[in-house]
Amino acid sequence: MYVLGIETSCDETAAAVVKDGQEILSNIVASSLEFHKKYGGVVPEIAFRKQLETIAQVTDSAIKEAGIPLKKISLISVTHEPGLLGSLLVGISFARALSLSRNLPLLETDHLHSHIYAAMFGLKKLPLPFVALVVSGGHTSLFYLRDFRRITPLAATQDDACGEAFDKVAKILGLGYPGGPLIERLAKNGGPKSIKFNCSAAKHPLNFSFSGIKTAVLYYVNGIKKRQNGKLYKRQTEDICAAFQETVIDTLIQKSFLACKIRKSNILVVGGGVAANNRLREKFNSAAKEKEISVYFPSPQLCMDNAAMVAGLGYQLYRRRIC
Ligand code: KG4
Ligand code: ZN
Repeated sequence: MYVLGIETSCDETAAAVVKDGQEILSNIVASSLEFHKKYGGVVPEIAFRKQLETIAQVTDSAIKEAGIPLKKISLISVTHEPGLLGSLLVGISFARALSLSRNLPLLETDHLHSHIYAAMFGLKKLPLPFVALVVSGGHTSLFYLRDFRRITPLAATQDDACGEAFDKVAKILGLGYPGGPLIERLAKNGGPKSIKFNCSAAKHPLNFSFSGIKTAVLYYVNGIKKRQNGKLYKRQTEDICAAFQETVIDTLIQKSFLACKIRKSNILVVGGGVAANNRLREKFNSAAKEKEISVYFPSPQLCMDNAAMVAGLGYQLYRRRIC
């Protein structure tokens, strides 16, 4: 069964064709990132205007690259929520129009659930049930999945999302946007224990809070600059990146494994843009080994927003007659 996936929840315009929920025949992602960079974050108005300009062409390219005629597509799966409203509307309206004109069933799917599905590519059997952590630019959430229809939210961030904290710290350090990959690169030369940062405690033990550490970095940087006539040396930036990244990763590990313990699960799935971070993957893998937990990640390219994960999730839900 061939499924066309469409994803426009943030700044990307993405379309993909996936066979039987596993075989990615095409996966096109057009980003408007270059237009947002100078603002240090995604500008919703720019994002949805670019998506309006590109959605038809991106979808057309995905179908052509898959090498199958449109009439062979059996289902359209489109991201319905959460995301930027204008951006979501572009994808949903386009998918509904295509579905009506071609008489194709349409499934509207959850973006966070798609990020979890991204880790299912390449697996012969879905490792259900499991605990899932989604760490992206807009969300940091823990879920328990009996299967992809029965997903229980366990926890979320009570303020900033994890990726958002990476982006804001990068802005404080004058590094650019998106911050995650830039911080990861600089952190390689810094000392993870060189500065003591903390993620503030949240009211619920599984919930996250990242706004405190972002403010702590801001005060720390302002303090150094005051003493050094407005200067921040590269070595200092590297240490800040390493210490910030380490603290955030340790917090994610602590909460995720606590969720596994509470739900008596020995399987953990991690998805979302921040899951592309190599230090995070290494540390989760070694903590999992110690605790005899199996941890699954999407391939690095599938951590970021894409439509293959939307098509894959759509296939799973449709196959189980959900729409
Ligand atoms: O999942 P995603 O593509 O979009 C949302 O649904 O939000 O995630 C984007 C986020 C950005 O905040 C970006 O800084 C972060 O993922 N990110 C990373 C890395 N690559 C992307 N964070 C840490 N380390 C990375 N290597
Ligand atoms: Zn996302």
